[in-house]
Amino acid sequence: MSSLYRFGISLDKKLIGAFDTYVEREHYASRSEAIRDLIREKLVLKRVDENGSVAGALVMSYDHHRSDLSERLMHIQHDYHECIISTQHVHLDHDNCLEIIAVRGKARLIEELASHLKALVGVTHLGISFSAYGVEDTDGDSGGAREHSRAREHSHAHAHDADHDHGHNHSHR
Ligand code: NI
Repeated sequence: MSSLYRFGISLDKKLIGAFDTYVEREHYASRSEAIRDLIREKLVLKRVDENGSVAGALVMSYDHHRSDLSERLMHIQHDYHECIISTQHVHLDHDNCLEIIAVRGKARLIEELASHLKALVGVTHLGISFSAYGVEDTDGDSGGAREHSRAREHSHAHAHDADHDHGHNHSHR
């Protein structure tokens, strides 16, 4: 039994013309595939807007030479440990670092984490990308990412020891 549902759409000729140009330029194999992506894109935006559970990634670049920056970044990430799945650190060149932080949790909490990181002096760029994970769950929230609403309760009570081992071997000389 197919789970596909087919329906017809009436569109103005100019609109379908513009859409077909879009489908071609974006290298979609069919209008249907392009429409599916547009629907998911809209549903992700709505989910974020309504503070639903989401999964995604923060992509950040920074100059690690800035005073205490590495330490501050690490501290903030520990404050939000409940919505961080993993981090990948790349040393782009002598000065610049690229960090990709995989996140999962309430949209507002992830945006809050992003704003704290972004505001630090030395962070040159931070972008958030939310995936479409869970957007097809019709109950709106539970089937997707787990809820991590307790993360904030931990935040200011977290003592960060300077000699703390973070479990990865990140060092700069
Ligand atoms: Ni680095």
